[in-house]
Amino acid sequence: MTEDCLDRVEEPIPAPADNEVLLRVLSLSVDPTNRIWMREEDSYLPAVEIGAVVRAAGLAEVVETKREGFAVGDLVLGMPGWQDYWLLSGDDMANVIPPGLEINDLLSIYGGTGVTAWFGVEDICALEPGDAFVVSGAAGGVGSVAGQLAKLKGAGIVVGIAGSDDKCRWVVDELGFDACINYKTEDVAARLVELCPEGIDAYFDNVGGEILDAALANLAIGARIAVCGAISTYNSDDPIGVKNTANLIMKRARMEGFLILDYLDRFLEAILGLAPLVAEGKLKYATEVVDGLENAPATLNRLFTGDHTGKLIIKLSERA
Ligand SMILES: NC(=O)c1ccc[n+]([C@@H]2O[C@H](COP(=O)([O-])OP(=O)(O)OC[C@H]3O[C@@H](n4cnc5c(N)ncnc54)[C@H](OP(=O)(O)O)[C@@H]3O)[C@@H](O)[C@H]2O)c1
Repeated sequence: MTEDCLDRVEEPIPAPADNEVLLRVLSLSVDPTNRIWMREEDSYLPAVEIGAVVRAAGLAEVVETKREGFAVGDLVLGMPGWQDYWLLSGDDMANVIPPGLEINDLLSIYGGTGVTAWFGVEDICALEPGDAFVVSGAAGGVGSVAGQLAKLKGAGIVVGIAGSDDKCRWVVDELGFDACINYKTEDVAARLVELCPEGIDAYFDNVGGEILDAALANLAIGARIAVCGAISTYNSDDPIGVKNTANLIMKRARMEGFLILDYLDRFLEAILGLAPLVAEGKLKYATEVVDGLENAPATLNRLFTGDHTGKLIIKLSERA
């Protein structure tokens, strides 16, 4: 995405009408899916229309309210988008958050990032002790948590796939992965065979494309593939298709896409699972906070260049 796709517009702060709430946006989650929503075609949500505010999840604080269930000062998690003030109306997704929780954690480990990793490992990969587990996007927000969860749940080997030696060192030395493949300098397919000689039991896919194809080529019988993301395709009008799907038949494997939005009613279950692991220091995560809405476009692009480790968040303002 180039910055000339976007306009920065100044408007008066709106006043809430009946059943509306005015909120000041505090922090925004930077997610690959922001880019999906900017494509022309609809995805699991309608495409962002030309002229509309860029859609993004985030946290905001109530400054004025004419709606029951919201009080001035409440912290609200929802979809404020790339703007300083958010007028909540109609059916906008919004949940008041109990006090005491750390804002960045709500957008990372206890938000769509950590919770996606949790359900991807638990439900879709259905991880069993001893499994050979592989995750792509291994040093990113979701992947770094997924690999650790797999290890904590007894995987026999956890292999990450990431885009630099530094990232690989981080997931192995700091996060406890058993191995990591630098897909920019190594032959992923060959290394997967070397590291998982009996085949991959569970593959957590964050990137799609050629890396997914390499994993498909080396499945164990009964393998599960969690299709979480396909970031290698989000900027492409002609994505690379996979060739090795016949191996799903040979290996009686299951490949399943999932969306964290379908798990909203089970978030608490994941948070209660993640929190003790964080508290005991068994689960680590990295968060980088970038100041200023004006940096949102460049920060979103960093997800595609890989110029970050862990979760990216944009900070707009402090709580009052
Ligand atoms: N299904 C869901 O509900 C759900 C929820 C959250 C996220 N997701 C998906 O999960 C994936 C990870 O999301 P995240 O928020 O944790 O992002 P992230 O992994 O923190 O950031 C994206 C990473 O993708 C890698 N990447 C970028 N372009 C690539 C390419 N062409 N080939 C291979 N790797 C590439 C980069 O790391 P390298 O330096 O290693 O290349 C980059 O750091 C995304 O695909 C996202 O859409 C899905």
